[in-house]
Amino acid sequence: MSPVVVLVGPPGSGKSTIAALLSERLGVRHRDTDHDIEAAAGKPISDIFVDEGEPHFRKLERDAISAALQGDGEVLSLGGGAILDAGTRADLAGHTVVFLDVSLGEATKRVGLSVARPLLLGNVRTQLRNLMEARRPLYGEVAKLTVLTDEKTPDQIADEILEHL
Ligand code: S3P
Repeated sequence: MSPVVVLVGPPGSGKSTIAALLSERLGVRHRDTDHDIEAAAGKPISDIFVDEGEPHFRKLERDAISAALQGDGEVLSLGGGAILDAGTRADLAGHTVVFLDVSLGEATKRVGLSVARPLLLGNVRTQLRNLMEARRPLYGEVAKLTVLTDEKTPDQIADEILEHL
């Protein structure tokens, strides 16, 4: 039992967009662990950060990922910080993990257009740069395939992933 593919990458890498497209192309369900966490908590992640703090969110995230990895035949997208947890990185071994890579400039542009993210308050570009520098090796550690998403359409990115499945 395993997801068909697991998408990881920083905020702004296009995980949700590409996961939705892949699930449509493959005719399977798209599961997103941030969405699972919000549904179980009955509130948005930004509220979980404010009310219970990041360590609590990370625990919920670890458990949600562990449960979702038991699912079968789904396209699974994870939150950008999922790979911070060593247990999660170990759980991802043996799964088809794709790292959606993105440049700082492109990620800043994409994130600026979307909903508020609790870890990116203040100067989005600076926060993203710090977060991406710290995490890049961890995404690389879990990934079977890395796809640079800059200057590619969602369809081109999906095609590239499907070629490798
Ligand atoms: C986070 C990214 C978010 C969400 C939470 C923490 C992070 O998901 O899980 O706000 O640590 O990078 P996206 O990557 O979908 O923005």
